[in-house]
Amino acid sequence: MRVAIVGSGPAGFYAAEALLKRTDTTVQVDLFDRLPTPYGLVRGGVAPDHQKIKTVARVFAATAARPAFRFIGNVRLGRDLTVEDLRRHYDQIVYATGNEADRRLGIAGEGIARCTPATVFVGWYNGHPDYRKAQIDLSVERVAVIGNGNVAVDAARVLLRSGAELEATDVAAHALEVLRTSRVREVFILGRRGPAQAAFSPAELKELGRMETADPVVDARELEGCAESTGKAEADQNLKLLRAYAARTPRKDAKKLHLRFLVSPTEIFADAAGKVAGLRLEKNRLETRPDGSITARGSGEFELLEVGMVLPAIGYAAERIEGVPYDEKARVIANAGGRVVDALTRAAIAGEYVVGWARSGPQGLIGEHKRASAEVVRLMAADAANLAPRALPGRDAILELLRDRGVRPVSFSDWKQLDEVETARGARRGAPRDKIVDVGAMLELLGQN
Ligand SMILES: Cc1cc2nc3c(=O)[nH]c(=O)nc-3n(C[C@H](O)[C@H](O)[C@H](O)COP(=O)(O)OP(=O)(O)OC[C@H]3O[C@@H](n4cnc5c(N)ncnc54)[C@H](O)[C@@H]3O)c2cc1C
Ligand SMILES: NC(=O)c1ccc[n+]([C@@H]2O[C@H](COP(=O)([O-])OP(=O)(O)OC[C@H]3O[C@@H](n4cnc5c(N)ncnc54)[C@H](OP(=O)(O)O)[C@@H]3O)[C@@H](O)[C@H]2O)c1
Repeated sequence: MRVAIVGSGPAGFYAAEALLKRTDTTVQVDLFDRLPTPYGLVRGGVAPDHQKIKTVARVFAATAARPAFRFIGNVRLGRDLTVEDLRRHYDQIVYATGNEADRRLGIAGEGIARCTPATVFVGWYNGHPDYRKAQIDLSVERVAVIGNGNVAVDAARVLLRSGAELEATDVAAHALEVLRTSRVREVFILGRRGPAQAAFSPAELKELGRMETADPVVDARELEGCAESTGKAEADQNLKLLRAYAARTPRKDAKKLHLRFLVSPTEIFADAAGKVAGLRLEKNRLETRPDGSITARGSGEFELLEVGMVLPAIGYAAERIEGVPYDEKARVIANAGGRVVDALTRAAIAGEYVVGWARSGPQGLIGEHKRASAEVVRLMAADAANLAPRALPGRDAILELLRDRGVRPVSFSDWKQLDEVETARGARRGAPRDKIVDVGAMLELLGQN
């Protein structure tokens, strides 16, 4: 069996490991990524001050060391290769392309200067090549982060960390320079529902109380009416932490992180230069739907919040890839339990699968992909019995095809070279790595072969 996996984030790597561990047959795995660097959001999403979780890369490197595995980086499906190419060269295909697009608020003023989606801000501070040139202007004092998830918390924390705290991380050098001279003093995290419905996790919320130069600020009135016990352990822990923050007196000279609830932005205002000057917020009340879920409803009462920058962190969505069926409603690759299906007829497309966020949408932690990807690999093994045997081109034919198209495939040993350079550069500033953020520079470093 020969399998192509597209996307080298956690879901792709866990799928590779499960395929390579199959005992009923031998599987050769080629893992493609559009970047020359592996690991998806472990490298480009996880916050720089969360180094511990990034050590999961060691598990993926162990998969990469298996003899039947090849990493083929710097190859984008839909640009350098087509789905038809993959069908010709592989018995089965696994899409593990994640969720790389951002969701939109759909309000007036979105898109003006200094209104920056989390995808861009996160990619910028993490040195993702797509966002290395993003214009992040931190000459403002107040920033609003929209959304109550862990990405919102990450973005707020990075904005408020001191230069010394950030220097020891793998934050991109260009971002470190801007963050060091940042004038941001106050960040507002704005949740549309109440404190008990917040999506951030207690561990992340707790960390906000331990920043070197910033303190969390919660208005006790915002917590009134919240039950002592919600029946959900995480919500109860969040409420406990929020109550403790509300009881605290912030340090006099500390920067402030305001956690606000039950407000939705309805408009973003610009100043004379066309840059963000403020937000119009509508106060919400909670309503319980017939299915028991709790939703926010506008109350018709408004307030203005003066801020110089807005960061919507309201979730991600899968990008469309030419030739791959797309579910317009769920904004993922069209699938039934991990088998790719035609978006209209829902008929299964033989030999094609999807794992990770591209399958399920942007929810869940890195470790959760291990079980989920293995589950799809079990489907692949079951379906393989029905595959008509056919002769595939030689294993290296795909590399020749890419070179004929002027693409320079990047192998795992190439990546190891880049890794060494980054680690050595990082050591100079006492950081785990100093990322190379430009694909051209990575390829130049690797030379032509
Ligand atoms: C900002 C942020 C911070 C997070 N922090 C944490 C955390 O601290 N702890 C935690 O447990 N979880 C965290 N998560 C969640 C975790 O990152 C995800 O659960 C996980 O990365 C999703 O895995 P994936 O493999 O589906 O997608 P991804 O990790 O996004 O990987 C997708 C890969 O596909 C590649 N790709 C995309 N399109 C193509 C194409 N056309 N051709 C070839 N390759 C392509 C991309 O380059 C990428 O490498 C975070 C998520 C975000 C957004
Ligand atoms: N440190 C970590 O472990 C870490 C770090 C980052 C990310 N992650 C994980 O990655 C996943 C994605 O995180 P995420 O923060 O992007 O998503 P998320 O957890 O789904 O949070 C999205 C937030 O945006 C809000 N939202 C959505 N649409 C909105 C709108 N139109 N207006 C206002 N608010 C809106 C949601 O509110 P509603 O709830 O009302 O819909 C929710 O609070 C999560 O599973 C997360 O745990 C983990």
